Amino acid sequence: MKPINLTDYEILARARLDPGVYGYVAGGAGDEVTLRENQAAFQRLRLLPRVLVDVSGVDRSTTVLGTRIALPVLLAPTAFQSLVHPEGELAVARASAAAGTVMVVSTMSGYRMEEIAAAATGPKWFQLYCYRDRAVTQAFVERAEVAGYSAVCLTVDLPRVGRRERDLRNEFNLPPTVMPRNFAGLIDLSGLTDGAAAAAFAEYIHKLVDPSLTWTAVDWLRSKTALPILLKGILTAADARLAVERGVNGLIVSNHGARQLDTVPATIDVLAEIVDVVAGRAEVLLDGGVRRGTDVIKALAHGARAVLIGRPYLYGLAVDGEAGVRRVLELLAEETDLALALLGCPGVRDVGREHVRR
Ligand code: FNR
Ligand code: LAC
Repeated sequence: MKPINLTDYEILARARLDPGVYGYVAGGAGDEVTLRENQAAFQRLRLLPRVLVDVSGVDRSTTVLGTRIALPVLLAPTAFQSLVHPEGELAVARASAAAGTVMVVSTMSGYRMEEIAAAATGPKWFQLYCYRDRAVTQAFVERAEVAGYSAVCLTVDLPRVGRRERDLRNEFNLPPTVMPRNFAGLIDLSGLTDGAAAAAFAEYIHKLVDPSLTWTAVDWLRSKTALPILLKGILTAADARLAVERGVNGLIVSNHGARQLDTVPATIDVLAEIVDVVAGRAEVLLDGGVRRGTDVIKALAHGARAVLIGRPYLYGLAVDGEAGVRRVLELLAEETDLALALLGCPGVRDVGREHVRR
C-alpha cells in the first residue's frame, strides 16, 4: 500500500513495529477516552467556506516566536525516537529542516541533543522536564543554548507518568540499545533496562522528574536562560492566565497526546477559551489528534498560531525513516493548502472563528 494520508502511515507502522513499541507510541492513559476524543473533537467541528475569493496564490507559511516556518505544523517532542528507527532523531531533524519547520527535541532523546543539532541546520527547540536534580536540569538548558536551540519548552503535565495500560500489559521497557543519551555520565541509567518488570519504564521516569514543581520553577527557568520559554501541557484558562503573568513567551495547549490524565478534554475544545485569556500576550500552539489539513485549519480558526504533531511523524519514521517523516509533513502541507483554498483563505492569517461552527 502506498500511503496517501497519515492514517495509512499508522497502519503500515503498526504492521512493522514490535507490538510493545507500537503500544508505547499509539497508546493513551486509562480507558483512552481522551485519546479518542482528541481526534473526535476535530471531526465534530464543521468548516464554513467563503466562495469567490482569489486563492490562486495560497500561502501556508507563518512564524512561531519570530521564526518563519513553511507550514503551520511543528514536530512535537517525543522521547526515544530510536525505538522506531535506528536513525531516530537524526532522521527527524533532517526531515524537519527539509520541510522548513521547527523540531522540538525531547530531553529523553535517543541521541544526544548536540548530535541532533548537528544533523541538520533547521530551527530546533529543546523540550525540558524539570528533574529532581536541578543542576542536571540547568546543565541541559546551558547545553541546549550552546548547541543552538532557539527556545526552551518546559513540559508541565508530567509530575508522574500516566497509567498507560498497553505498556503494563506488554510489560514495555526500553531495549538495551535505546537510552536517554543526554543523561549519560550525569545520572545512573542502569535501572532503565532492568528486565521486564511491569511499569519499569514509568518508575524510571518517575525517579527522574520532579513532582514537587510549582510556578516558581518558571521564574527559576527564566533566571537561567535568555531563550524564549514555552509551557507545554496547559489545558485551562486559569493556568494560561498564570503562565502569561509569569511572562512566558508561548503556551502549548496539550494533553500530552492523551497519555497522562484520562478524561481531560480534547485540546481543540479548550483552545478558544485559552486564546481569549491570553489575549495576544503569548503565542498559543496546540497539539493532540491533528491528523488532517482540516484539523490544522480548525486550530488556526480558534486562534492557534500553529499546531504540533507527535505520533504521525513517528509512524512516518517507522515506515520509511527520514523520507517517511518528510512525506508525512508534505501530506499535511498539501492538505492544508487545499483546505485554505477551498475555505476561501489565501493565507493562514485569513482563517478566523467565522470559518468554523460547533
Ligand atoms: C510524547 N510526548 C512527549 N511530550 C513531551 O513533552 N516530552 C516527551 O518526551 C514526550 N514523549 C512522547 C513520546 C511518545 C511516543 C508520544 C506519542 C508522545 C507528547 C507529545 O509531545 C505530544 O504532546 C503528543 O504526541 C501530541 O499528540 P498526537 O499528535 O500524538 O496526537
Ligand atoms: C511519554 C513521556 C516520556 O509521553 O513524555 O512517554
